Amino acid sequence: MMLQLNQVNAGYGNVKVLNDLTLDVEKGKIVAIVGPNGAGKTTTLRTICGLVKITQGDIHFDGHKISGLPSDKIVRYGLAHCPEGRQIWPKMTVLENLQLGAFTRKDKDGIFADMENMFHTFHILRERQNQLAESLSGGEQQALAVARALMLRPK
Ligand SMILES: Nc1ncnc2c1ncn2[C@@H]1O[C@H](COP(=O)(O)OP(=O)(O)OP(=O)(O)O)[C@@H](O)[C@H]1O
Ligand SMILES: [Mg+2]
Repeated sequence: MMLQLNQVNAGYGNVKVLNDLTLDVEKGKIVAIVGPNGAGKTTTLRTICGLVKITQGDIHFDGHKISGLPSDKIVRYGLAHCPEGRQIWPKMTVLENLQLGAFTRKDKDGIFADMENMFHTFHILRERQNQLAESLSGGEQQALAVARALMLRPK
């Protein structure tokens, strides 16, 4: 199993949002979480990547227990988060945003090849690579957020 949530409880302060959430994601599978506004979808993703504190249960990723670890450790196991609402670094260039997406990697050739792939998929990012990310349109910024996540070459 690539990702396993086992009876996860999490929330914000006294507000409990996730109640005994159990979820399995197999390697190579796509899993969609569907639900009404406020159901806890974003909270689930933020809990997986260590941004929301887990109060009970555990999360395993690719054989490692990741619950309780800080986000910068989790990302090193190859788990990328593409946040809704972009959250790119506005005062850095498009290129710098993409380079930071690969900050855990040492394979220079692989990083270069993946950058080319991103530029091939999202032409606008190649054209605007030296501009500040904040100068992109909303949709272009979301494309950058997707490309930045993929630059990790996530598992
Ligand atoms: N930072 C926060 N502090 C307190 N409560 C929060 C915080 N973020 C979210 N919540 C609450 O947690 C609950 C779940 O929110 P969440 O953002 O996970 O929902 P969602 O399923 O992603 O909804 P949507 O479809 O609208 O994106 C909501 O009741 C929300 O008000
Ligand atoms: Mg949401």
